[in-house]
Amino acid sequence: MAKVILLSGSPRKDSNSMEILDICAKAIEENGVDTEIISLRGINVNSCIACNECITKGNCVLKDGLDEIIDKIRDSQGFIPAAPVYFGTARGDIMSALQRIGKVSKGNNKFLSWMVGGPIVVARRGGQSLTLQEMSMFFPINDMIMVGADYWNIVFALEEKTSHADAEGVATIQKFGENVAKLIKKIN
Ligand SMILES: Cc1cc2nc3c(=O)[nH]c(=O)nc-3n(C[C@H](O)[C@H](O)[C@H](O)COP(=O)(O)O)c2cc1C
Repeated sequence: MAKVILLSGSPRKDSNSMEILDICAKAIEENGVDTEIISLRGINVNSCIACNECITKGNCVLKDGLDEIIDKIRDSQGFIPAAPVYFGTARGDIMSALQRIGKVSKGNNKFLSWMVGGPIVVARRGGQSLTLQEMSMFFPINDMIMVGADYWNIVFALEEKTSHADAEGVATIQKFGENVAKLIKKIN
């Protein structure tokens, strides 16, 4: 069965990123595609050091656990990263992760090619649009298929586990999840 990996870039235990990914995963599963949610919480994600060793070794050689996540993404048909906005842009760890995931894919048969997905961003008040654009850059350069919904994938929330209160945000993410699942089933 086709599968989507959803990756949270929040360090918080009861994060809004995880909560909104749960909602997204439910919509994907209701439309017949498997999901697995993974969190970067507790991982100190290193940035790419441009060693190029992934080209010969098949995966990232930095030993912080991201290589295991990369293997899961490699075996999936969809990928959805979510992250909080920090000072107007994405939290650093998610961008470090995306840059390493992309680098490994490009050096190893472009396993991200034709993978379906798109980013989700969460913030209290400002910076969602720019952050969504920042994270969106990852998809077309990796030959991926970015999916739309009725609005952009932005959610408003401050305190932990309060993203469900943003009704329009939740509806957008549910529609996005539904579209991701439907497209994966059409092309696989
Ligand atoms: C260091 C830091 C910077 C932040 N910067 C912004 C910001 O620029 N704009 C905003 O609206 N919220 C900002 N916030 C609030 C978070 O984006 C908000 O609490 C979000 O819900 C956190 O998502 P999470 O629960 O998934 O970690 C910031 C929070 C922190 C800790």
